Amino acid sequence: MSEKKKIIIGSDHAGFEMKNSIISNLSDIEFDDIGTDSDESVDYPDYANELVKRIQSNSYSFGILICGTGIGMSMSANRTKDIRAALCLNTKMAELARQHNDANILVLGSRLISVSEAIKCLLVFLNTKFEGGRHQGRLNKFNNVDYNIT
Ligand code: RB5
Repeated sequence: MSEKKKIIIGSDHAGFEMKNSIISNLSDIEFDDIGTDSDESVDYPDYANELVKRIQSNSYSFGILICGTGIGMSMSANRTKDIRAALCLNTKMAELARQHNDANILVLGSRLISVSEAIKCLLVFLNTKFEGGRHQGRLNKFNNVDYNIT
């Protein structure tokens, strides 16, 4: 029997319903759900920060972040070194985010795409490999930036 994939997932209140739908529709995947746990208003950076911290300490291969547009979650997550969070609105973006950008977090906007499109994006994201080569050279240049973020 093949091992279940283990992925960490988090959302704010705007992404709460989409997060639940993704988890309940994909029983072959083991999700570590860091919340939020209701549609009561919360601050998306709290969830982005927690998720990237856990990716760094527990070496999950992939994470998923969901907010209303996906913009706030992307901005927050990408402030961390070695995190490449990609906001994807369709499967082409999800495919290229893996092939060219070696994205390790898929970001979804619950107010912009349907649950079924989000699930398609997730499946493509998980099943697409990084192409390396010239793309790796470009990613290496991310490290030229002095992040200076604690
Ligand atoms: C919450 O209303 C909304 O601002 C948040 O989910 C997200 O879209 C921010 O980028």
